[in-house]
Amino acid sequence: MEKGGEAGEYHSKDFEWEFVKNLVENDPSLSHHLQEPHLVDSSSSFSSSVSKPWQDFHSRHSSGKFFKERRYLLKEFPELVLCGENTKLLEVGCGNGSTVLPVLRGSKNITVYACDCSSEALVRTKENINRAIATVDNFHSFTCDFSTSAFPNWLACHHCRHNKHCHHSGESDDTSLNEHCIGGVDFVTLLFTLSAVPKERMPRAIKECFAVLKPGGLLLFRDYGLYDMTMLRFEPEKCIGFREYVRSDGTLSYFFCLDTVKRLFTDAGFIEVELENCCVKAVNRRKNKNMYRIWVHGKFQKPFLK
Ligand SMILES: C[S@@+](CC[C@H](N)C(=O)[O-])C[C@H]1O[C@@H](n2cnc3c(N)ncnc32)[C@H](O)[C@@H]1O
Repeated sequence: MEKGGEAGEYHSKDFEWEFVKNLVENDPSLSHHLQEPHLVDSSSSFSSSVSKPWQDFHSRHSSGKFFKERRYLLKEFPELVLCGENTKLLEVGCGNGSTVLPVLRGSKNITVYACDCSSEALVRTKENINRAIATVDNFHSFTCDFSTSAFPNWLACHHCRHNKHCHHSGESDDTSLNEHCIGGVDFVTLLFTLSAVPKERMPRAIKECFAVLKPGGLLLFRDYGLYDMTMLRFEPEKCIGFREYVRSDGTLSYFFCLDTVKRLFTDAGFIEVELENCCVKAVNRRKNKNMYRIWVHGKFQKPFLK
């Protein structure tokens, strides 16, 4: 799983991405990572069981030892704590709460909504919040596989999703309005979650995130980059699609290049605000080996209403 949550690693450029690209593309022992596998049905055979492996994963890691708060998060995405009152965040694929916790600690103004396809993950998140900051009334969670299902209507009703002006205070005569709707969110965080979604379902999943953002709202993205060290460790038989792998526990991992991320988000209607590779070099002193970590960092905005 993803490591490297140290503060200071949030926008590092220890090396140019092209440096690792050249190493990989000129190493015959890594050639299986460059070719599209000759599978007729590629990843679709794994698609139906996305939630189950994650449910098992979170059940196995119930001790709390696996929990690691994302300490770099607020440096990388300072808007999450510099926000005004009544700001709303949706953290998609919250896992055990590594992202939710620093946000709740960092700002009293923000209400955090978190979802995961695994109900076990939500239990872990609540345990970790209770352990760290006791009871909070600005945190709400729900189960959702956002690659196959719409986010609930109370998050953003039909009117909000279609950029119409909503009156959720009960002042409107329009009986089709969902008066419990919170009116959409200001931020969506998608951190190491999209890589776990089958490639062919990613466009739909991103459209879901777009739909529940308010106009002008931001989607904050971080995920595995192409040729990250963890990609190169996968054996050939774990490759189920182009740049797409299955771990031994059945969870999926896709590795993104900047062009793919740009296309996925702009096709869904987003405006690119920031997009770059984050390249961090670590040294394994015991093995005297360099380890090249690559993550993609992005910020995307939903356009304001015209
Ligand atoms: C690597 S964890 C990332 C956790 C968290 N975002 C963080 O910052 O640490 C990926 C999480 O996404 C969840 N997930 C995977 N596919 C999902 C889907 N289609 N819908 C919702 N959650 C999903 C998994 O259960 C897992 O908890």
